[in-house]
Amino acid sequence: MSEILRLDSVRKYFGKFAAVDGISFGMKEGGIYLLVGPNGCGKSTLVNCVSGLFHPEEGNIYYRNADVTNEEMFKISRRGLVRTFQIASPFLRLTTLENMLVALPDNAGENIFLSMFKPTWQESEVNAVRRAAELLRVLGLRHVWNMPARTLSGGELKLLEIGRALMCGAETILLDEPVGSIDPKLCHQIFSHVLRLRDELGLTFLVIEHRLEVAAQYADHVFAMDRGQLVTEGTAEEVFEDPRVITAYLGE
Ligand SMILES: Nc1ncnc2c1ncn2[C@@H]1O[C@H](COP(=O)(O)OP(=O)(O)O)[C@@H](O)[C@H]1O
Ligand SMILES: [Mg+2]
Repeated sequence: MSEILRLDSVRKYFGKFAAVDGISFGMKEGGIYLLVGPNGCGKSTLVNCVSGLFHPEEGNIYYRNADVTNEEMFKISRRGLVRTFQIASPFLRLTTLENMLVALPDNAGENIFLSMFKPTWQESEVNAVRRAAELLRVLGLRHVWNMPARTLSGGELKLLEIGRALMCGAETILLDEPVGSIDPKLCHQIFSHVLRLRDELGLTFLVIEHRLEVAAQYADHVFAMDRGQLVTEGTAEEVFEDPRVITAYLGE
């Protein structure tokens, strides 16, 4: 499988402090990658560089072989590389399906949403509803399609957030600490669907998490960071047995 994302010696400074201190790695299309490391080690800063919220002072970031290092965030997301929080939170009074439709870019979603009350639909509108319905199926949200988002569980809302990114054409999804609490059920609910999205739609994921055990069983490949640097990478088992990773956490 081809490489979809490549980081080459990326450095991001806050003043003189290098929060990201020379990170290089590659990700293949269709992989589920986990980025771990203690609090404050630079995970979010790195992901913010990838999504285009920050621009690194040194190094390069390539998405599908295109240099996106200094590209604006909206352009990067148009390429299909998206951090989910870039998509606005679901509207709690709208239904699940309506939330999917209003996520469409360029206000097309708003038109489609309004057109739901019209007697005849344009073909593009029918297609958007079809696409939303298909995504809701893969996300396991079909049974709540007509429920207001406020009645959804925390896990369902997170999946809806991913669904909204997919409506906008996301292909590579950056999830920064997606499971807020250590709730094994919630974790499984989210990550079993991440696996399904990968298997059925070929999506690529980079999941950021500071708790080592969370999400490890779902990852194909793990990157471990400490103090702005990549300490090691490999399978979850390899990384979690690495003394450098254990030291990074004990020294927290
Ligand atoms: N906007 C900022 N300005 C200054 N320092 C920051 C900023 N954002 C993060 N930092 C610092 O950079 C380091 C890495 O932070 P962060 O990337 O949020 O870590 P993580 O996500 O791994 O917990 C921390 O020391 C943090 O205090
Ligand atoms: Mg963080």
